[in-house]
Amino acid sequence: MPLTPVLTKRWLEPRSWELESYERLDGYRALRAALAMRPDEIIQIVKDSALRGRGGAGFPTGMKWGFIPQGDSTPHYLVVNADEGEPGTCRDLPLMMADPHALVEGIVIAAYAVRANFAAIYIRGEAVHALRRLQYAVREARQAGYLGQNVLGSGFDLEIVVHSGAGAYICGEETALLDSLEGYRGQPRLKPPFPATHGLYSSPTVVNNVGTLASVPAIILGGAAWWKAMGPEKSPGTSIYSLTGRVTRPGQYEAPMGTTLRELLDLAGGVREGRQLKFWTPGGSSTPMFTAAHLDVPLDFDSVAAAGSMAGTAALMIFDDADCVVRAVLKWTEFYEHESCGKCTPCREGTYWMTQILRRLERGAGTKEDLDTLLDTCDNILGRSFCPFGDGATSSITSSIQYFRDEYLAHLDGGCPNHRNRTLVGAH
Ligand SMILES: Cc1cc2nc3c(=O)[nH]c(=O)nc-3n(C[C@H](O)[C@H](O)[C@H](O)COP(=O)(O)O)c2cc1C
Ligand code: SF4
Repeated sequence: MPLTPVLTKRWLEPRSWELESYERLDGYRALRAALAMRPDEIIQIVKDSALRGRGGAGFPTGMKWGFIPQGDSTPHYLVVNADEGEPGTCRDLPLMMADPHALVEGIVIAAYAVRANFAAIYIRGEAVHALRRLQYAVREARQAGYLGQNVLGSGFDLEIVVHSGAGAYICGEETALLDSLEGYRGQPRLKPPFPATHGLYSSPTVVNNVGTLASVPAIILGGAAWWKAMGPEKSPGTSIYSLTGRVTRPGQYEAPMGTTLRELLDLAGGVREGRQLKFWTPGGSSTPMFTAAHLDVPLDFDSVAAAGSMAGTAALMIFDDADCVVRAVLKWTEFYEHESCGKCTPCREGTYWMTQILRRLERGAGTKEDLDTLLDTCDNILGRSFCPFGDGATSSITSSIQYFRDEYLAHLDGGCPNHRNRTLVGAH
């Protein structure tokens, strides 16, 4: 399977982030084409392309845009989710660093399509480097007439604000993000109503991921049929797969949706020398883990779901036979305990208790009953929490016990049987 650079095609150009480089390589051509169309025509192209959101859930983008009421007198908003807090996920930041104008162009086209005159990019607080780069790109785009009043003489006005969050994982959940953007504590809102009708300032709002919007200029230029020809029919296009952990050449590999881990490992030089693949996440720490038995699962939304996990954000964290699965799961669960927003009891209390039990198990002080208590706690969180964060917190626990129960049991006798595994790469 070859690399298919669409979103990454400019990344290796000298000073790729500058407007001059972007314009030289097709930049803002899609915007000119889009402004010559009616907003509904753009929504139809995105629907026809079958583009699905890259933020994790894979929701059809054209359908989401189509939910925005038309002909009403309320303001509409476009909000870009650039929070990227899922452990293992690292494709939005490199995209914003290497090619910020692809995102800006995607935003202008999307805002025109949903008739929004204000867009906000919500970027995580720690990513000061990307924040500055985006601010610079927005300034350049405004000076060139791609933003502001009367974009390229079309009569369409758009302002973009780049807003820095404060580094809370839950602020990546779209309604918590909206609360945070409005100046409140970032906690999820009850849905319905959905952001399409009651979003930012209770007005119709589209919330899209960075990669989703950066795909839009390519789709407008290449056409819906071209995009749909890559990958499976219901989950088409390219995906930036992020390979981290025990892999020879970690990094971002853009390939058609539905590429398998076996093919990606071929591109990345395989698992580190002398070691065997043991377990991996297909879409970040919130998605049930896979094992070597899943090397040939096509990594698209539907195929991964059919195999019992979620494609999520294509964050492929790779672990080998020297890594301890109990320790990896403990590290992820500590993350969820720390990041739980505390709004609902199953998640707030459950993540605390799961961490206690996993710590015990990992250091060899657990009991066989602890495994049942752990699964019972997961059962009380899954489907009973206020937002999908709770479900995500249970994924690595239940899937690891499903595939590696024996390794948990081996820990009961004095901890990890392989003490060389104490330092772990790949989980954070
Ligand atoms: C706990 C949690 C964290 C999330 N973090 C992110 C994130 O960092 N970036 C993102 O784009 N979507 C994130 N999402 C998904 C968003 O709620 C939303 O579905 C997404 O931004 C929609 O964009 P899309 O349709 O373009 O995928 C998160 C969801 C949950 C439940
Ligand atoms: S599941 Fe509940 S406590 Fe956990 S992050 Fe969501 S709202 Fe907050």
